[in-house]
Formats: sequence, C-alpha cells, structure tokens
Amino acid sequence: MIFIKTEEEIEAVRRASDLVSQTLGEVAKWIRPGITTRQLDTVAREFILDNGGRPACLGYHGFPGTLCIEVNETVVHGFPSDYILKEGDIVGTDCVVELNGFNGDSCYTFAVGEIDPKVMDLLVCTKESLFKGIAAARAGKRIGDIGNAVQTFCEHHGYSVVREMCGHGIGKSMHEDPEVHNYGRRGIGPLLKPGMCICIEPMINLGSKNIVFEKDGWQTRTKDRKPSAHFEHTILITDDKPEILTTFDYIQQALGERSF
Ligand code: MF3
Ligand code: CO
Repeated sequence: MIFIKTEEEIEAVRRASDLVSQTLGEVAKWIRPGITTRQLDTVAREFILDNGGRPACLGYHGFPGTLCIEVNETVVHGFPSDYILKEGDIVGTDCVVELNGFNGDSCYTFAVGEIDPKVMDLLVCTKESLFKGIAAARAGKRIGDIGNAVQTFCEHHGYSVVREMCGHGIGKSMHEDPEVHNYGRRGIGPLLKPGMCICIEPMINLGSKNIVFEKDGWQTRTKDRKPSAHFEHTILITDDKPEILTTFDYIQQALGERSF
C-alpha cells in the first residue's frame, strides 16, 4: 500500500531527511586514506544519537551498522569493518535516520584521494542519473518513468544498471511501497501522486550489471569485481516539481573544492 502523507508526516520526513543529510556531511569530513570504515560508522552513529535520532539501519533485520559501506565493487549493504580506505578507492555511505517516528534515507559515493578518471566518470554519471530520475518524478507520471530516465541516461554513457536492488517509498518505515526500480519502461507501474515520499537510489556499474550476494545474505558485489556507484535522495512528490528532502549541501561544504 502506498501512503499519501499528511503535512505533519511530510514535515517529519523532512526533518529526518535533514538529519541524515547532516550525518553524511559529518562522514564526508573523515573520508581519507588510512581511516577504517568502522570509524566512519562510529562518526555517523554518534552524530545521529547526539542529535536525537536513531540509526535505523543498525539492527534492521540484523544489519550490523549505522552505515552501509560500499567500497569499490561492493554494490550495497556492505558491513562496516576494519578495512582501511586507501588512495584510489571509492566508498559509498548509505544511511537511514529515524527521527520522531519517521525516516530519511540518503547515500553518497566518495572518492578516497585521487581516483582513476574512468571511475570518476562513473561517479559523475551516477550522481547525475539520480537527478534525471528525480526530474521524472512528477505527479501524473508513473514509477516506470523514473527508472526509464535513470536507465536511459546511464546506458547512454556505457554503464549498466543493477537489477536486483531498487529504491522505495519511505515514512514510518524505511522501506514502504512502491518499489522504485532504476530501469524500466515509461508509463508503467504505480501512478505518482502529491504527498508520496520515495527514495530514488541508482546503483550503477562500470562493467556488467550482474551482482553476487555474499553468504551473509546482505553484502553484494559486482560479479566482474569492477566498481559500482550509488547515490540516493529522499523526495516528495508535489503538484509541481519534486521537493528533494535530503540534500548533498552538507557533504559539498565538507568537500570544499572537490565534488566527490
Ligand atoms: N538505502 C538503503 C536501502 O534502502 C538502506 C539500507 S539500510 C539496511 O536499502 F539496514 F537495510 F541495510
Ligand atoms: Co534506500
């Protein structure tokens, strides 16, 4: 069932979304060669708790982190660990914050030091594809219009779209209906209506679209072990263009001159 949110509920998602955005802004300050992904996770957890939120991923169906950590070929749902980030890595940090009973969800993929220009292009394209998807998310259009916008853009650039994972509705639960695929045909799927809150989260591979699940049932990586990128915003469908409830502004402030 797809919920249409009241003004109060929307405001609550907006606040949770702002807190998760600020959290990723804190994490951004610590991305560098030599730091472990567990240290990043601790930064995020302490910041969320200090600000009255709840790290919603932690313990979610047993998930062991505040952040999902996505290093290089890890697609989604990687565990924080003792892995030490090194120059040339990319690392996605995906986070959900619950605040006053509502959730906000966002993800950003960072470059650790200098990275291969080919991988940099993947980051640029994946981030841009998120905004293509958002632009398609207008009342009266359908979920398939979003996926089609993401897929068309990424495939035009020679990248591939992960099929097994998708975005989702969000509100009292971090995962609500509808599923928001990053591929598909225009004009199909659930109708978009004002008051719907959804998360768009393209997961885009440099090589083939195929992924492998680890035995733990969570962690996923590309089959060809080439890098994968992931960006996510929580948005509100309105009568006009969508309102982006999360923001990368805090991350951008932390990154300064850099983009990733
Ligand atoms: N943005 C991720 C998702 O929607 C957040 C997952 S949190 C986890 O799948 F707890 F499920 F890992
Ligand atoms: Co999500």
